[in-house]
Amino acid sequence: MSAPLKTDFSGQTINMVLRRVRDTLADAGIDTADLDARHLVRAIGPPKTDILCHKDQKLDAAQAQHLAGLVEKRAAHMPLAQVLGRWEFWSLDLFITKDVLTPRPQSEHLIEAVLQRTDKAQKFNLVDLGTGSGALMLAILSERPAARAVGVDLSPDALKIAQKNAVHHNMQKRTDFVLGGWDAALAKAPFDVLVSNPPYIARREIAGLHRAVRDYEPHMALDGGADGLDAYRQIFALVPHYVRSGGVFAFEIGADQGAAVLALARAMPALRQFALTCDYGGRDRILAGRVC
Ligand SMILES: C[S@@+](CC[C@H](N)C(=O)[O-])C[C@H]1O[C@@H](n2cnc3c(N)ncnc32)[C@H](O)[C@@H]1O
Repeated sequence: MSAPLKTDFSGQTINMVLRRVRDTLADAGIDTADLDARHLVRAIGPPKTDILCHKDQKLDAAQAQHLAGLVEKRAAHMPLAQVLGRWEFWSLDLFITKDVLTPRPQSEHLIEAVLQRTDKAQKFNLVDLGTGSGALMLAILSERPAARAVGVDLSPDALKIAQKNAVHHNMQKRTDFVLGGWDAALAKAPFDVLVSNPPYIARREIAGLHRAVRDYEPHMALDGGADGLDAYRQIFALVPHYVRSGGVFAFEIGADQGAAVLALARAMPALRQFALTCDYGGRDRILAGRVC
């Protein structure tokens, strides 16, 4: 049995608390203990101020209790974004809960792929299949003020978060959400752009994922079927029905899936001009192209 956490922080200064939170998280096996401690302590400060700039200030009872709750969740390996309830993606502050995947930095390459294929003033409509928190569609809309987007997800709870994020960024008039499977927004086609970061983990690999992902992130956001490619097979067949001729598609893919996903895309006669983009670690991450 692991030792109980020592999380009574009342009356202690920010400086002392920072060290204690860091040590508590490190003891719990959190690799990013130092950075996470800063995020957690910052979260108990008043809005729009940085409590870390007041290192001699002492925590009051309410702050101490709030912090203890956050530390206990993170020490149990709940992802930091879920503990904080917020996460930044493409400079957008997004609400995050257990019902949505925490947007990953590598997904920003998908945003770049779409921005490279569209113009700033272009009026276009986009569909985001498996929108989760809405991260992809909202990031693109933030850069393309004349564009509109439809987010699709099989999870009603995820869609609620995506909608909340759209309102938070004042994009409710440019967004729409459809509950259902990959084909759920076909009635709204044709679109100019289709994006998707579908579940792509091979089922047998899920048990070996880091516990913060395996135990806390939605299974529906991870499970890509026996070989991880189920969603690509299903969505590639739908792309010509969703996207008008000359339109753009961009998919996030697993780091080792470049060749397999490219082969699936090449087997679809309507898809062309393929480009695979790597992340900063040199791993395949995005497959983009056009519909003929
Ligand atoms: C990997 S997450 C991506 C979330 C978000 N787009 C992002 O990039 O952060 C995949 C999303 O697809 C949704 N999903 C899984 N299977 C689906 C299906 N058959 N039809 C529609 N959405 C599905 C999940 O609920 C989840 O929100």
